[in-house]
Amino acid sequence: NNGGLIVKAFSEEQEILVVKSWNAMKKNASELGLKLFLRVFEIAPTAKKLFSFLNDSNDVPLEKNPKLKAHALTVFAMTCESAVNLRKAGKATVKDSNLKDLGELHYKYGVVDEHFEVVRFALLETIKEAVPEMWSSEMKEAWTEAYNQLVAAIKQQMKPSA
Ligand code: HEM
Repeated sequence: NNGGLIVKAFSEEQEILVVKSWNAMKKNASELGLKLFLRVFEIAPTAKKLFSFLNDSNDVPLEKNPKLKAHALTVFAMTCESAVNLRKAGKATVKDSNLKDLGELHYKYGVVDEHFEVVRFALLETIKEAVPEMWSSEMKEAWTEAYNQLVAAIKQQMKPSA
C-alpha cells in the first residue's frame, strides 16, 4: 500500500540508466558517498547538526566518520534499488528497513523538505562528476525520478512513532 501516492511510470530505459551508472560507480561508492555529503554540508552547513554521531565525535574529522559514509552509501544504493522497484512494482519500496521506520527516524531527527532537496542536488552533481562519459539529461531525469519517488514514500511516513 503506497497510501494513494500517484506514481509516474518509470520506464525500463530509465531503470537501465540508473543501474548502468550505479554499476560503474559501485566500486567507488564509499568515496562518492563521502563526496556527496561533503557537498551537502558545503551547501547547507546546518545539516551537520542533524547527525548525532557528528556531534558526539568532534575529534574524528568529517571525512573519516564511518557512519557518515554508511548513510551516504545507503542513500545512493536505496535510490538505485528504488529505480528497479519503481519499474517492477510501480512504486518505491525498500528492502532492508521499512518505509515506516525510515519515515519516523527522519522525522525524529528533524529532517525537512529542504534537506531532501539539497541531497538530491548534491547526488546529481556527484553522479555527473563520477560518470561524465555516461551523463545525459535522460540519466539526470531517471535518477531524479527514482530519488523523488523514494523521498515521497519516506515523507508520507514522516510522523511521530505511535
Ligand atoms: C538515518 C536512509 C535522506 C538524515 C538514516 C538511516 C537510513 C537512511 C537507512 C538509518 C541508518 C543509517 O544511519 O544509515 C536515507 C535515505 C534518504 C535519506 C534512503 C534519501 C533517499 C536523508 C536526508 C537527511 C538525512 C536528506 C538530512 C540531510 C539522516 C539522519 C539520520 C539518518 C540525521 C540519523 C543518523 C544518526 O543516527 O544520527 N537515513 N536517508 N537522511 N538520516 Fe537519512
